[in-house]
Amino acid sequence: MIGVFDSGLGGLSVLDALVDALPQADFTYFADTAHIPYGNKTEAEIQQRVLAIGAQLTDQGCGLLVVACNTATVAAVQALREAHPEIPVVGIEPGIKPAARASKSGRIAVLATETTARSPRLASLVAEHAQGVEVLIEACPGWATHVEQLALDDPQLAADIAARVSPLIEQGVDQLVLGCTHYSFLSPALARLAANRAQLVDVAMAVAEQTRRLAGPLARGQGRLHLQSSARPEHLPAALPRLKLAHLLPRIVSSAA
Ligand code: DGL
Repeated sequence: MIGVFDSGLGGLSVLDALVDALPQADFTYFADTAHIPYGNKTEAEIQQRVLAIGAQLTDQGCGLLVVACNTATVAAVQALREAHPEIPVVGIEPGIKPAARASKSGRIAVLATETTARSPRLASLVAEHAQGVEVLIEACPGWATHVEQLALDDPQLAADIAARVSPLIEQGVDQLVLGCTHYSFLSPALARLAANRAQLVDVAMAVAEQTRRLAGPLARGQGRLHLQSSARPEHLPAALPRLKLAHLLPRIVSSAA
């Protein structure tokens, strides 16, 4: 079984790519609904949650973990790898490298949670992969919470997205890096603002590809999906259609807290 987790619904965008890449694999998806959002927590708080979830999923027999959350990855993937040296741990980090490579204007932007935006790990990704490219980092407080509440069409959210993204486009940004897995579900609104001036960079497929390379025999299961959350277990399956992921519903064999 492959364990995938996030603070909430965001990692489902990664799960979708994982199921595409590994259609026969069995997955457990864990949403830490009782502790969302991670994006305004300290790295120490996030580490504590990530280690607890990692322990729970490995106790349940997961032989590979996917941290489907940028915030948890920057704060805690290293600690998680140290706690479970016997299994592969795949994280997700903002796609600075592909964005910097693809940029023609020499100016890219990263949209992320507050914790990710201020993390030393993001600064080192920029230093390593974006030499000669200007990287604007935009913290987007509240966006993940809106997605979590399935308030995707909320006018206040739309106004905040426009207020943050339009100035970036005006400044010549031609790559918008989705640095939080929840933001994949805001792609339609973001793509409208980007129009044909900027493209969205989402690394969910690259994460799925990396997982496929590491999966070994875990690639061969029965295509089952277990859903778990630390609160409101009914929220996950109910959210799937709203997130245009109804095709995952037939895979669900259990859904519990
Ligand atoms: N989905 C998470 C990420 O990729 C964070 C959302 C939250 O703030 O909990 O960063």
